[in-house]
Order: sequence, then structure tokens, then C-alpha cells
Amino acid sequence: MNFSIHLANHSPDADARVCFVGEFSKPSLLRELKDVSLREFSGKKLSHLLMREGKVRKLFVGLGPETGRDADVFRKAAGLAVRQINKLGLTHVSFILGDHAAMAQAMTEGALIGGYEFEVFKSQSAPPVRVSQIDFVVEGRSAGRVSEAVERGRIMGEAVNRVRALGNLPGNVINPETLAEEAVTLARRFRLKSMVFNRKMLEKGGFNGLLAVGDGSKSEPRLIRLDYRGAKNKSAAPLVLVGKAITFDSGGISLKPGEKMDEMKFDKMGGVAVLGAITAIAALKLPVNVTALISSAENLPGSRAYRPGDIITSYDGKTIEVLNTDAEGRIVLADALAYARLELKPAAMVDLATLTGACIIALGEYKAGLFSNHDGFLDQVQKAARQSGEALWHLPLGPEYHEQIKSDVALAKNTGGRYGGAITAAAFLEKWAEKVPWAHLDIAGTAWSTREHPYLGKGATGYGVRLLVGLAEQFADEGVFSKKESPLWEIQQA
Ligand code: BES
Ligand code: MN
Ligand code: ZN
Repeated sequence: MNFSIHLANHSPDADARVCFVGEFSKPSLLRELKDVSLREFSGKKLSHLLMREGKVRKLFVGLGPETGRDADVFRKAAGLAVRQINKLGLTHVSFILGDHAAMAQAMTEGALIGGYEFEVFKSQSAPPVRVSQIDFVVEGRSAGRVSEAVERGRIMGEAVNRVRALGNLPGNVINPETLAEEAVTLARRFRLKSMVFNRKMLEKGGFNGLLAVGDGSKSEPRLIRLDYRGAKNKSAAPLVLVGKAITFDSGGISLKPGEKMDEMKFDKMGGVAVLGAITAIAALKLPVNVTALISSAENLPGSRAYRPGDIITSYDGKTIEVLNTDAEGRIVLADALAYARLELKPAAMVDLATLTGACIIALGEYKAGLFSNHDGFLDQVQKAARQSGEALWHLPLGPEYHEQIKSDVALAKNTGGRYGGAITAAAFLEKWAEKVPWAHLDIAGTAWSTREHPYLGKGATGYGVRLLVGLAEQFADEGVFSKKESPLWEIQQA
């Protein structure tokens, strides 16, 4: 998709013109449309009205009552517009920005994200005709700002779609080894330093959790490390992004039921999101140090598979009693968190994982679960989520939950029973984070979508990419907040 910026009187003819209309902003737009039916268009959030003026189509998209404040509405409105125009088989669109110049980044993101479809394996006689050119029509003074915002939006939107394209690949096409190759290719393209721990290196290092989870598959596990050093001081403590990348989760010996098991190809979305985020951080040249760690294995019940009852010694010597081989995510993350803590000395670390079905029971498909051991960092993650439009909800930690995962034979067992399953999983991870400011996002409900939305197609959503980039931006500006200077109060007022 190509973007350009034009002044109102000099904009080329497009196949369709899109106007974004708030519930209370209609009068200013009436000159755009002489047609009476616009008066019937309410401007209700994400409603739309398609009309025809000679050869040109006009699409009105509603923004709802809080026009100009919520970037996510503009993101979704732009996505919806692109999807509507794709249905008409038109390619060249203009977005009339009007007084919404500040929203150009969100609209660019939304246009790219809305336009993406997973269709590499579909047999089609001819590639479908899709929106390929978007002209932003702006007022004179804002052209420079808009062009910078569009460029940032393009970097973000493309990173999100890269993540979705990888995420949608099934287990027979991508496994830990080929995912690592993809990561190295991306690292070259974005000038990141990369290091892939193969089986030998994992054995030598003592990554016994990741190794155990990968034992049942003929594909070997991999730990992928990517470094971006953009800060003035290249040795300043980094922000570490950790991701779970189980390329397929059958449950292992504790086999999952067959229904919906195919969806477990998405069990890599945390790791893939982290990979996408660090490429966007590099493309944006943010003045920060960031390291991504992607812990990748395939969880299958082969003859060498790990079993219930096994006791594993993780990277930092902490022991795990395996009670259910389907609770594999926390085991591969334990090694990665321990490695980060001991070898990278992070300023803070955040992990993303499709960790528990219990999180979906608690929050549904709309919000990710957020856990943290540090109030200041927690606020920063919440602020990033608010800005990126990736919804989440803070869930608790506490000594009771650690009680629930006490083991008779090891430091912890890998399941805590039926109650509070998302929380006991997070409490397990907390043991490996120790005192490092840490946040955990359980993205089991938000990482993919089984339904088509007006502004987004089915499959991998890319949840978390924009949030992590926003978090890195905050980290560049202000480091990690101390618990005391927590600005939650201020944010809530805004
Ligand atoms: N990848 C799954 C979690 C999951 C399930 C994500 C369904 C999205 C949809 C994870 O590895 C898992 O199997 N967790 C178990 C943990 C349990 C055995 C303690 C779960 O949630 O059932
Ligand atoms: Mn599992
Ligand atoms: Zn899993």
C-alpha cells in the first residue's frame, strides 16, 4: 500500500473519497456532500454510508461522539474504510483529513491493518483487486507533520502485518528452526544483532525447560535473541521483550482435546509479536536499548516427549515439577526470564504469551490479562495500551497464588489447579522475574480472531506490537518509573 499527502485543491482524482464524520461534526462536512441522505447519517461510531457522485464513490465513516480524542476510533475507521472499498474492487482512495491531522498515524496503521488478508495459500485465478494507493488530503499548515505521522504509521502497520503473516503460518510450514531463520533474515534487514541458540548451545547453557518442552518433536527448540542498541550509551540497561513461541501446542503427553486444536498454531503469537516490535523499534530509530528473547519449541507427544512427574532444573537452577505437559508456556518462559535477569541485567522486562485458557474465561476475547511486580512499570504498560488501542486488564498477584503452586518435590509445580488459572501461571513466572521490574501479558484471548470484524480480517491480530513500541518510546523518554513516581493518577485524569 502506497501513501501520499496532497493539499485540498491539488489532490488527484481517486476512485473513492472517504470522509470521517463525528456525531457532532456534521455541519462542517455538509459542503462535502450536497446529498440529503448525509443528513440521515448519524456519525455513530464505526457506522458507514456509501454513496455515488458520478464516477466517484463517497464513503462516510462515523467516529462517534468523542471525535478527535481517541486514536483507536480513527485506526478502526480507516481499517473499515479500506475493507469497504476492497469489496468494491477499487484501488485508489483519498482520505479527507479535515481537522483530524493529528490522527494520520493511527489512520495509516488502521488502513494497513484493515487491508491485510491471509491468502498466500488460497488458490485464486487472479489476485483480488485491493486498495493500493491512499492520498491524505490535508490543510496547508499540517502537511509536514502529516507526512511524518504517516511514515511512523506505515512502519507500525507493516510491522503488525509482518507479525500476522508469520503468525498465520501453520505448524507444517513454520517450526522453531524455520522461525529462527525468519528472525535472522529480519535481523539483517533491520540491522539488529542476532543470536540463535541451537540444541547444543541450549544444552551447554542449561536451558532445560525449553529443551524438555521441545523433546517430543523432531523440530528442535530454539532461543532467539535480537539486540537493538539505539541509546546514546550502548551499554545502558536494556528493556527486554520476552515472547512465548510454541509453533504448535498439542498439549504433549497431556494431550488436548481435538476440538479447535488447529488454533494452537497461534501459540507462537507472543514470540512473533516481540519479533515484530523490535523491528519497528529499529525502523523508528528509537533512542533506546532493547533486547528481544523468543523462546520457541513445538509441543508434541513424541517418544522422547517430557512427561507428567518430570522434574526440570531451569536456567537459573530453580526446579519445576511437571504436572501437566500442556502447561508448557510457563516452562519455556522461565528459562528466558532467568537468562534475561542474569545475563542482560534489564532495566525492565515484559513478556507476551498465549499462556492460559483461563485468561479467556476471565476476560473474553477483548482484553489481555496484565500482571506486574512493579507499580511504576505497570503504569507505563497501561499507558502504552491506552495509546495503542490494545485493551488489557490488570489482574492480581499475591502470596496466596504462590501457595497454590507449591510442590512437594521442587520449587514449584507447573499447574495450580482450576481456580485462578491465569493468575497462578503469572505467579509462576514471577518467581523467575525475581526483583526485576516485570510485566506479563496473557494474550490467549486477543492474539487471534475467529471472526471477521468490520475493520479487521480473521486470524492472527498482531496484538501487542504497537503496545511494545509505545512502551519502548516511553522508556526512551523517561526510563522506568519508580514505584513512587507512578503517574497513574495523572493518566486517569487525562
Ligand atoms: N497455549 C495454551 C493456552 C491457550 C489455550 C491459549 C486456549 C489459547 C486458547 C497453554 O499452553 C495451555 O495449554 N494452558 C493450559 C494450562 C493448564 C494445563 C494449567 C490451559 O490453559 O488449559
Ligand atoms: Mn499448552
Ligand atoms: Zn501453549
